[in-house]
Amino acid sequence: MAARQIIKTQIAIMGAGPAGLMLSHLLATAGIQSSVVEVRSHKDISETVRAGILEHGTVNLLVESGVSDRVLREGDRHDGIELRFNGDSHRIDFKDLVGESVWLYPQTDVFMDLAARRKADGGEVHYGVTDPAVHDLEGKPKVWFTDSEGVEYEIQADFLVGADGSRSHCRFQIPEAHRKWYFHEYPFAWFGILAEAPRSADELIYANSGNGFALISQRTETVQRMYFQCDPKESVAEWDDERIWAEFRRRVNGNGFELKEGPVIDKMVLPFRSFVHTPMRYGKLFLAGDAAHTVPPTGAKGLNLAIHDVKVLFEGLDSYYGSGSTALLDSYSNRALDRVWKAQHFSYWMTSMLHTVPGTDDFDRARQLGELNSVISSRHGRAYLAEAYTGWPTTTT
Ligand code: DHB
Repeated sequence: MAARQIIKTQIAIMGAGPAGLMLSHLLATAGIQSSVVEVRSHKDISETVRAGILEHGTVNLLVESGVSDRVLREGDRHDGIELRFNGDSHRIDFKDLVGESVWLYPQTDVFMDLAARRKADGGEVHYGVTDPAVHDLEGKPKVWFTDSEGVEYEIQADFLVGADGSRSHCRFQIPEAHRKWYFHEYPFAWFGILAEAPRSADELIYANSGNGFALISQRTETVQRMYFQCDPKESVAEWDDERIWAEFRRRVNGNGFELKEGPVIDKMVLPFRSFVHTPMRYGKLFLAGDAAHTVPPTGAKGLNLAIHDVKVLFEGLDSYYGSGSTALLDSYSNRALDRVWKAQHFSYWMTSMLHTVPGTDDFDRARQLGELNSVISSRHGRAYLAEAYTGWPTTTT
């Protein structure tokens, strides 16, 4: 067998999702080399339907670091959302409350922009690799992999970044004595659809109803994205279009509001859980994005957290290569986790406020409406939601 081809670089990155590619791009802007390894093909990643809401900080980073300004041209700025319960909609006006907005711009497009920028800049990204394995995390890290042509490689790097998603290979290489895992399970999941229909509203609608939660989101003028709370064991095969729309109507329609319906062109069940791996560093390995944490989808924090992680990690690596100081690398895990736990709380809070827990009683239902009323009837309550939804300022130390 031929010997492994050696690639020498500064940062080896496992995973070419938004976190891995964004980091590789930021490093390139500072003249720091990286090599990215990804098991999925470019086509596979670009065809996966994911969430669609970007915080203003995520948008700023994409634009200001030179990835692309397509988000500003083709994304939709949203200055608020609607909370719908007891048959009425209540607007949370982000602009008025905290002076910020979010952008509706699907994660797939973020990936396409990042992948195109890395390609145009000559970035080294190996898609569709097999058998990736990491070694020597405490010394001089190495990544072994076989590329899509069957050639075996060894990357030698100063640092390794595990941005390899929720089933992270990297995370599992950290010895048990050096990590703590936090889990929370939820008794439901989301049934997500793409439908060919016009927009039902200008902004997203988060609906709490006695029949369970529903979220009315969007994609384009003619394709919409929507979700309803379902059992985690739900099977998409048992849901035809008529049954799906009947479920949405029960949860959202009323008091003069009617959803615009159309053919369902995609359907899937999305799992729901909270997970955090701490600390987000072991030796020369740094974890980023879903490899270190998962949030439930309510509030769309997953991608935004991943981008925040790599922004903070980039500052640490840039400072290390610029001045030799490890201070910012040493504070990476704490700085990233500060936001991760805020987002865990926000996602959990939005979930518990808006979903129906199976088997709950009249007290729980009435209490939940009391909670929703306390949020919408107070400027402080609305501002708390608006600040979290649009994204907290980044902590500086
Ligand atoms: C979308 C997904 C979310 O989880 C959310 O909170 C808002 C929007 C989406 O896919 O559009």
